[in-house]
Amino acid sequence: MDIKPKGFSYVKADYNYISYYKDGKWDEGVLREDNNITISSLSTALHYGQQCFEGLKAYRRKDGKVQLFRVEDNARRFMTSCERMVMPTIPVDVFVDAVKKVVLANESFVPEYGHNESLYIRPFMIGVGDNLGLRPSSQYIFSIVVSPVGSYFDGPASPVDMYVTELDRAAPNGTGHVKVGGNYAASLYPQLAARKNGFADCIFLDPKTHTKIEEVGAANFFGITREGKYITPKSPSILNSITNRSLKWLAKNVLEIEVIEDDIYLYDLYELAEAGACGTAAVITPIGTITYGNKKHVFPACIEMGPTIKRLYDLLTGIQYGDVEDPNGWITVL
Ligand SMILES: Cc1ncc(COP(=O)(O)O)c(C=O)c1O
Repeated sequence: MDIKPKGFSYVKADYNYISYYKDGKWDEGVLREDNNITISSLSTALHYGQQCFEGLKAYRRKDGKVQLFRVEDNARRFMTSCERMVMPTIPVDVFVDAVKKVVLANESFVPEYGHNESLYIRPFMIGVGDNLGLRPSSQYIFSIVVSPVGSYFDGPASPVDMYVTELDRAAPNGTGHVKVGGNYAASLYPQLAARKNGFADCIFLDPKTHTKIEEVGAANFFGITREGKYITPKSPSILNSITNRSLKWLAKNVLEIEVIEDDIYLYDLYELAEAGACGTAAVITPIGTITYGNKKHVFPACIEMGPTIKRLYDLLTGIQYGDVEDPNGWITVL
């Protein structure tokens, strides 16, 4: 099949996976073609945001095979999100099996090798059933939908402009570290405002002091210092990005550069030679400028991807598409 992803917009594939939780247990789970769900109007997901989700990708290799990147890590993060939302968990092997099943059933929707495209996989869980008061539901749906995708930002190779918002996506001790819809609902307004003003996305600051960079709407933030070190913020309110974890590992073990997890103050941005946003959807998108208030910081690597980020980009995407040998047990070939 000739698959044409439309940037990062939804293209319906043939099958999705669905499993129901009732009376304290999950059913078998099935693949089905209809991607609509009928749920009670009183579902906790609709009123109280009792839900969570994941995002990972299946990649077409040069030899035509399809592979997943760090699927067990997505499964583990999903468990953490489920627990924080007081929802039943899905064992890692059940999550991984369900992902494999749905990808194999939609194999013809995995875009061909060589165009930086992939099959985006979206597992999610929602609280359903007839509920009124604020309490966790006793019924849930776990489902996985997929869509072929291309680039999230216009890049990914060309640096983008970012805008620092004064609004917060998460509270200091809230739910910023897990992948739950509420964080994203809070990020829609500032993201739209940034986009209306010509920026690719907004950057959130730490919700306590509003002085340190936390992350982008759908990606972690990292930089390369003028001394060539990899730096990324450490904070309880940012998502524990699997891409960022991979970059930290590759920077340390393959590029052999120092990795620092520390605060990145807005007034210290001049210490960075390169900056980027990283995530499953964003891959690695270099950041050329950051505007905050009436100030605009221009990074030295503002015209094209800086040299260290380029090396990381080549390594990461090389592993994901099967051109570079898997260094750390990250790949599952289907
Ligand atoms: C808020 C946020 N931060 C970071 C990331 C990157 O996480 P990962 O690399 O696991 O995709 C995402 C990805 O979806 C995200 O939504």
